[in-house]
Amino acid sequence: MIEFTVNGKPQRVDVAPETPLLWVIREQLGLTGTKFGCGKALCGACTVHLDGRAIRSCVTPVSAVAGKAVVTIEGIPDSHPVKEAWIAEDVPQCGWCQPGQIMAATALLAANPQPDDTAIDDAMSGIICRCGTYQRIRKAIHRAAGKRPSGGAL
Ligand code: FES
Ligand code: FES
Repeated sequence: MIEFTVNGKPQRVDVAPETPLLWVIREQLGLTGTKFGCGKALCGACTVHLDGRAIRSCVTPVSAVAGKAVVTIEGIPDSHPVKEAWIAEDVPQCGWCQPGQIMAATALLAANPQPDDTAIDDAMSGIICRCGTYQRIRKAIHRAAGKRPSGGAL
C-alpha cells in the first residue's frame, strides 16, 4: 500500500511500486485532467506538482511519491490567477497540452512571482504544444503575475 495526498486528500493505492504516477492518477483515482502524451518525459503533457515542484508523472514511479503531496490540474481552483489568465487570453487551442502548461505555469509563479520572458521560456520550454500556443501562454503568465492568489497553498 502506498499512501500520499492528491489535491489535499489522503489516498492509499495498492499497485506495483514501479507503476507510473500518471496511471495511478488517471486509472486508480479517476482524475483524467492530467494527459498522456509521450510517456517518455519528452512532452510535459503529464505534468503535476510533487511537493510544489512540477514533475512528469509518466516517468515517476508511484513509490517515489509515498508520504508526499501531489497536486493535479483538478486541484488548481478556477479562481486561480493562472486559470483566469488562461481564459482571458484565450490560450488553449486543442487543449491537450494545457493541463501540463497550467501546472508548469503555477509552479513557475509560485517560485518566481514576476518572471521575465526568459524565465517564462526556460520554465515552459519543456511542455510541447503541437498547436503552437506559446505566445498566448507567455502573455497569460505575465497577466497572472500581476495577480497573486489570495490565500491557499497553490
Ligand atoms: S507524457 Fe509525460 S512527458 Fe510526455
Ligand atoms: S493546445 Fe493543442 S497541443 Fe497545445
